[in-house]
Amino acid sequence: MEFFLDTANVDEIKAAQAQGVMDGVTTNPTLLSREGGDWKAQASEICKIVEGPVSLEVVGATADEMIREAEALSAFGENVVIKVPMTSEGLVATKVLYKKGLKTNVTLVFSPLQALLAAKAGATYVSPFVGRLDGISHDGMELIKQIRTIFDNYDFPTKILVASIRNPLHVLDSALIGADVATIPYKVICELAKHPLTDKGLEQFNVDWEKLTK
Ligand code: E4P
Repeated sequence: MEFFLDTANVDEIKAAQAQGVMDGVTTNPTLLSREGGDWKAQASEICKIVEGPVSLEVVGATADEMIREAEALSAFGENVVIKVPMTSEGLVATKVLYKKGLKTNVTLVFSPLQALLAAKAGATYVSPFVGRLDGISHDGMELIKQIRTIFDNYDFPTKILVASIRNPLHVLDSALIGADVATIPYKVICELAKHPLTDKGLEQFNVDWEKLTK
């Protein structure tokens, strides 16, 4: 299972890289605007410091606009994955980008049939948003199970990239279901490493070591 970091913050990327747990990065217009400044410089730096895939999102409404943007975004680096919204125009763009050999991440997926359409259009990744579904009292992880079943039924190579992750349980469930990737906020990555019994055990070891070596 791969872990992507869901951020446009360079300090967070460097910290996750140092922990050796990060395989790629996903950004979106909200995450880039949170960082402020020149988004192109920010995106370009992220593509340089990250070895794995970096998702950069198009914002045009039509397929033609998306394709033009995708070509410009690709110039940021060989690791760029074009994030395309799950709309009819987005599907047209995904198909064209697939034929051009560009990698795509179809985003804002909230139903298994949207994921199936994206896979049929040749998406490299689909991004189902589990946290936002949970937020409207739907079962986000049920969507991941359904997409896993559909992709396995037909051997689609499209990877399931679980997005809108809110807590460690979302990551655990994604792993148990067999999602290919989870894109995780930095705060949640940090929570994954923590356990109160680890802290308590370490404290006791330190106390006992102190006694022994005094
Ligand atoms: C995915 O690639 C998105 O960037 C992300 O997970 C959005 O989720 P959120 O805005 O609901 O946190």
